Amino acid sequence: MPGFEVFGEEEKREVLDVFATGVLFRYEFGAQRGDVWKVRQFEEAFARYTGAACAQAVSSGTAALKVALAALGVGPGDEVITQGFTFVATWEAIFDVGAIPVFAEVDATLNMDPADLEKKISERTAAIIPVHMLGAQARIAEIKAIADRHRIPVIEDTAQAAGGRLGGRHLGTFGACGTFSFDSVKTMTTGEGGMVITDDQELWRSMSEYHDHGHDHVANPGGRGGEGRRFIGFNYRMMELQGAIGLAQLAKLDGIVAAQRQNKAILKEAAAAIPGATFREILDEAGDSATFLAFMLPDAERARQVNQILRDNGAGAINFGDNTWHYYPRWEHLLEAKTPCKGGWPFSAHGKRRVVYDPAFLPQSAEIISRTLVYQVPVKLAEAQKSTMLEALRKAARA
Ligand SMILES: Cc1ncc(COP(=O)(O)O)c(C=O)c1O
Repeated sequence: MPGFEVFGEEEKREVLDVFATGVLFRYEFGAQRGDVWKVRQFEEAFARYTGAACAQAVSSGTAALKVALAALGVGPGDEVITQGFTFVATWEAIFDVGAIPVFAEVDATLNMDPADLEKKISERTAAIIPVHMLGAQARIAEIKAIADRHRIPVIEDTAQAAGGRLGGRHLGTFGACGTFSFDSVKTMTTGEGGMVITDDQELWRSMSEYHDHGHDHVANPGGRGGEGRRFIGFNYRMMELQGAIGLAQLAKLDGIVAAQRQNKAILKEAAAAIPGATFREILDEAGDSATFLAFMLPDAERARQVNQILRDNGAGAINFGDNTWHYYPRWEHLLEAKTPCKGGWPFSAHGKRRVVYDPAFLPQSAEIISRTLVYQVPVKLAEAQKSTMLEALRKAARA
């Protein structure tokens, strides 16, 4: 996930255009800014790149999810189904609109299991958020077909998979909308930042308004102060400096993915020699953004042994079972209903518990995650790092 690895002169040049105008804000200041509208240009370029009709830039990937949910009308009384292997942001956004997250199992793709999704749909399900975790495709065609049958909108959380495709089509373009993150560790970065893409003009209009306090952005003699509002909103605006960096990073995205694919292939070949090792199911290798290599051992004990060898040789892998950021049983604040709100919201309302999460609720995910080891794939795999990783993998293969 390494946009920062290729940060350079191109980003600086784009940012200097903004400094030259002194206009850091995406709206207004027409005379002062000349032709410099970096956020707007970034939105247009991102939509063109992904093949979506429109794009809405926002302040983070979490904001992108919140804005999408709000614009789709999701709120209290609703449930939203996502997966138990994702970053906490996915379900934070669901809580933040007042809805309740319901967690589905992941399968060998490490993404949402459509069969389990189907079981978890209820009359309260108002949206489904599959995540293209670790850079590769969820079973989006099957998920979309199930969602369509139940007339439920799909939001693709594509935070970790910018540049990823399925059958040549960009991830994020299959659902009602797709959300992206450009935070510090993502495949392309603007420091903090996010985007929502959609083909639905009306949905885009709602997102555009909601992310800017509900302002309708209709030109009028009173300027921004004279704008109307159809509904309340919030402030999730992206600033011009981020838009400028985004333009430079987007131009590098295909190159980043190509370099990752080469490096991933080298690591994968070495990991394949480990007895019993299999790989995460990738639905379309040609569309993998290749930010991560995930391989599975036959059981948790064997995964622990292999990782110990890798660690002892300076190339330990991630086991997401130990990771408190991305895996349901490790989200202690969710399981223990911890909230700064005195009334217990969002876990409780009016003195009554709305939802209880059982740590043992996702046994299929637990089994898969317990025996999965993951490497982040760098864009620039330095010779020293490469030989350390390859030697560690070879030792694991011989043990
Ligand atoms: C799957 C997923 N969704 C959402 C987000 C939130 O993005 P941000 O950090 O830009 O708010 C992240 C960030 O790591 C993520 O990995």
